[in-house]
Amino acid sequence: MPHPLADRTRRATSFNTASARYAKYRPSYPPTLYAALEEALGRPLAGARVADIGAGTGIATAQLREHGAHVLAVEPGEGMAAELRRTLPGTPLVRGDGNALPLADATADLVTFAQSFHWTDPHRALPEAYRVLRPGGVLARWWNISDSSHTWIADQSDRLLAHFGPEGAAHGAHIQGRADNAADAPAIEPVADAPLTHRIAWSRQLTVDDHLANLASHSLFLVADAAQAEDFLTRERAALLSLFPDGHVDERYVVDLVLTFRPTSA
Ligand SMILES: C[S@@+](CC[C@H](N)C(=O)[O-])C[C@H]1O[C@@H](n2cnc3c(N)ncnc32)[C@H](O)[C@@H]1O
Repeated sequence: MPHPLADRTRRATSFNTASARYAKYRPSYPPTLYAALEEALGRPLAGARVADIGAGTGIATAQLREHGAHVLAVEPGEGMAAELRRTLPGTPLVRGDGNALPLADATADLVTFAQSFHWTDPHRALPEAYRVLRPGGVLARWWNISDSSHTWIADQSDRLLAHFGPEGAAHGAHIQGRADNAADAPAIEPVADAPLTHRIAWSRQLTVDDHLANLASHSLFLVADAAQAEDFLTRERAALLSLFPDGHVDERYVVDLVLTFRPTSA
């Protein structure tokens, strides 16, 4: 049985083997999320200095840039960084880790972790984020969570847990539930106010095959035995096509957004 830390590192780096698939099939984030960031910042994103940490293939980076922000992407993985360079040429990108940011003090209005904070050690990543933020700056962490109040999503979650066993249970919880280290992230000072949280429901319609490709881009599948992963996807395809004979599903998400602030007098 792999050591938990080795297993975690393997999962955290697994995306690099599937970066093109990740970029093509993973969901983006709804406009309301960016409105909430602007409200927290007290200014438009246009012209704001943003450090997007764990930027991956650049899904959030691209949206932040579309809002006019000056975004610096920080990404540890070579495969993901290569995909970001390919799809967003000209975007400043630094290879680096959220636990030890290669960025100067007090240089960002906004630090973002889109679906990436759970891969960090919060004891190191939180002080680093606040160091890089200017006084009054905003730290935003968010996750697209599959909305299991919809029966087909809850049923799929059960099938994931049944197929992948106890190890899959943890991965399944990660895919379906709130990221593990966020809810319990220690309240490391300096945090000026209690966190502001938003839950933003949204959905997208796509083919069953594209939905399965999205599922297969999660670390659960990327580190699983290939035959076991393939077996799940074959069965799941049959189950979903019998449920949705027109070959389309509505993926339903709730974005869990957590906002905290660097005190103005730190
Ligand atoms: C689920 S992806 C999210 C990518 C992107 N932010 C998005 O919204 O699609 C998680 C990303 O976190 C990165 N990551 C893993 N460990 C990290 C760490 N310690 N610090 C920063 N990023 C990390 C991975 O390489 C991967 O690109």
